[in-house]
Amino acid sequence: MFLLSLAMLLPGDRAAAASSEIERGEYLVCIGICSSCHTQKDSEGKTIKEKFLSGGQRVGGLLASNLTSDPETGLGHWSDEQIIASIRNGTRPDGSSVRPPMGTFFYRDLSDADVKAIVAYLRTVPAIKNPVERLDPQRASVKMELVSTVAEPGRKNQIAYGHYIGVTVSHCFQCHTPRIDGQPDLTRLGAGGNTYTARGGGTVVASNITPTSLGSWSDEQIRTAITKGVRPDGGKLVGVMDFDMYARMSDSDMNALIVFLRNLPALSSGAQ
Ligand code: HEC
Ligand code: HEC
Repeated sequence: MFLLSLAMLLPGDRAAAASSEIERGEYLVCIGICSSCHTQKDSEGKTIKEKFLSGGQRVGGLLASNLTSDPETGLGHWSDEQIIASIRNGTRPDGSSVRPPMGTFFYRDLSDADVKAIVAYLRTVPAIKNPVERLDPQRASVKMELVSTVAEPGRKNQIAYGHYIGVTVSHCFQCHTPRIDGQPDLTRLGAGGNTYTARGGGTVVASNITPTSLGSWSDEQIRTAITKGVRPDGGKLVGVMDFDMYARMSDSDMNALIVFLRNLPALSSGAQ
């Protein structure tokens, strides 16, 4: 509906540009697994479609915010710049800060065009009224230098572009990297070692995904683990990762991500 009315209002090429920006935003929100935290789940751990991006899901001791355009309980009254600042810099219009596990630590490197596309897409998500309490107001945020502009990543260098996909957009290293003082230790990218609660109960450790562990896997085997949750020996990965969302990754983004993983330093597992 929205796309149609936009197309009627704007001259053809502007409409096409706007709709491709919204498409790009939808793609980034999917492979950036935003809804994994920002949508409530049912008792089986499946995200509830009717509550898409309306927040209230508990993660890391906090409740993820309502990202729909509802003016009172979502982002309806926020300007584009305010939404961008909250994603990349962890600031809010009321002066409070957005704290981990929201991935500001990584999302701060989203390019200007990509973060704008995310906002353009969020504006099209149906507004849902869902007040979300801000838990643990005493918990501190992370001090980081503020970013105001981030250039578009080049796509020629596969390792660098794969870094953008895996580290900045797709959250892989929030889980697969050990932490120092609560922050990912970027010198040990991919060494794994953090413990997660599996959806069905019990705990599971995020694997080492450097060549120490994946060196002997084929590209296809790595892709299958990421998008289907199946290991080369046919064993199933415990459902902590959002396989379905990663399955939407384009071939060129997936290929770059795999090249990047192959070029990580081969590390021993966990923290050191
Ligand atoms: C690992 C879980 C997680 C993921 C993934 C995640 N978020 Fe969040 N996000 C949160 C939590 C939790 C908060 C609230 C933090 C707080 O209370 O300080 C939050 C807050 C926000 C806010 C601030 C809005 C407000 O009113 O507080 C925005 C905007 C936001 N997230 C956008 C996104 C986008 C866009 C993505 C995907 C690119 C994303 N988030 C992915 C957990 C997550
Ligand atoms: C929410 C946390 C989380 C995120 C985000 C995440 N993973 Fe995982 N991943 C895990 C856990 C936990 C395991 C171990 C599951 C098991 O042992 O059954 C795992 C397993 C894997 C494996 C299998 C390794 C092996 O030796 O069996 C690969 C490959 C992998 N992840 C790659 C990725 C990539 C690439 C991304 C980003 C596109 C990603 N993961 C995002 C938590 C995460």
